[in-house]
Amino acid sequence: MENTIERIYADAQAALAEAADADGVNDISIQYLGRKGYITQFLRSISSLPAEERPQAGKRANEIKGLLETEIKVTLERLARTTRKPADRIDVSLPGRAPEKGSLHPITQITNRICSIFAQMGFDVVEGPEVETDYYNFEALNIPKNHPARDMQDTFYVSDSVVLRTHTSPTQPRVMEKRQPPVRIIAPGKVYRCDSDLTHTPMFHQVEGLLVDHKVSFADLKGTLTAFVHQMFDDQTTLRFRPSFFPFTEPSAEVDIRCVICRGKGCRVCSQTGWLEVLGSGMVHPAVFENVGYDTSRYTGFAFGMGVERIAMLKYGIDDIRRYFDNDYRFLCQF
Ligand code: DAH
Repeated sequence: MENTIERIYADAQAALAEAADADGVNDISIQYLGRKGYITQFLRSISSLPAEERPQAGKRANEIKGLLETEIKVTLERLARTTRKPADRIDVSLPGRAPEKGSLHPITQITNRICSIFAQMGFDVVEGPEVETDYYNFEALNIPKNHPARDMQDTFYVSDSVVLRTHTSPTQPRVMEKRQPPVRIIAPGKVYRCDSDLTHTPMFHQVEGLLVDHKVSFADLKGTLTAFVHQMFDDQTTLRFRPSFFPFTEPSAEVDIRCVICRGKGCRVCSQTGWLEVLGSGMVHPAVFENVGYDTSRYTGFAFGMGVERIAMLKYGIDDIRRYFDNDYRFLCQF
């Protein structure tokens, strides 16, 4: 009899060693320890043994039952540690998934590029407030009360005397009130106008430039802007200065560059003219100097302002300004 229980135990151990998963172990448990299991049946059959064999057989069978229960538990724990469902398994040979790399927004990149070109020429980068007073946005810049730019349709008014700045030009009087010439500044930032179509968004970016010193002439303005355009685009890009009007400059000029797409032959982007308008500029109006207390007999200066989106559209060949603000990941990834 003893041989029988020892054999059952040995078989159970062999089966456990082979078991591949928890289900297999549970089957073995039922097979040996269940209600009709081999060990249970053996325990029941002890009463039919000769009386002198019963105590020893019962003791050993119970011992084996306990041992087997422990071995089953240990096997289940081992399998839980070492086997996983295929889906959980880590394939260490697969290439890793790298996190996506971020980058600066194309408008930020172009703004930085513009500022660094002027910084190399000795201009300081300064910033002014986006919520601006009527005084700095208009009055100090010699923009009279009845000027069309002040129209409710163009300007976002916060109150009668406070606006969202419509251009970066208010940084000019703000800086000149605090500094004495020579002044050389470049001022990037957001500006706001109540306007929205293919080439206009209610918020856009400008970069303002101002240089004031003794004997600054229009030739200095031309030289500075030519150096800028050659660095921003390339030194084959020619410029043309067209007479224009701004209340805060006299004389004023709009600057066009040879179309960077067709090189002057005429295309859709330049409306067949061969030229692209990129900025406004001029010699600082004496009235502006008077507003900030500069001596107009000693100082002259030039100023200019450009739209960053416009420069970026030309640089990257993009024909819809709204692309810059859709935040479409596929668009932004290209820069
Ligand atoms: N502030 C003008 C605008 O928003 C651009 C401009 C023109 C700026 C001439 C200047 C300038 O500094 O001299 O359209």
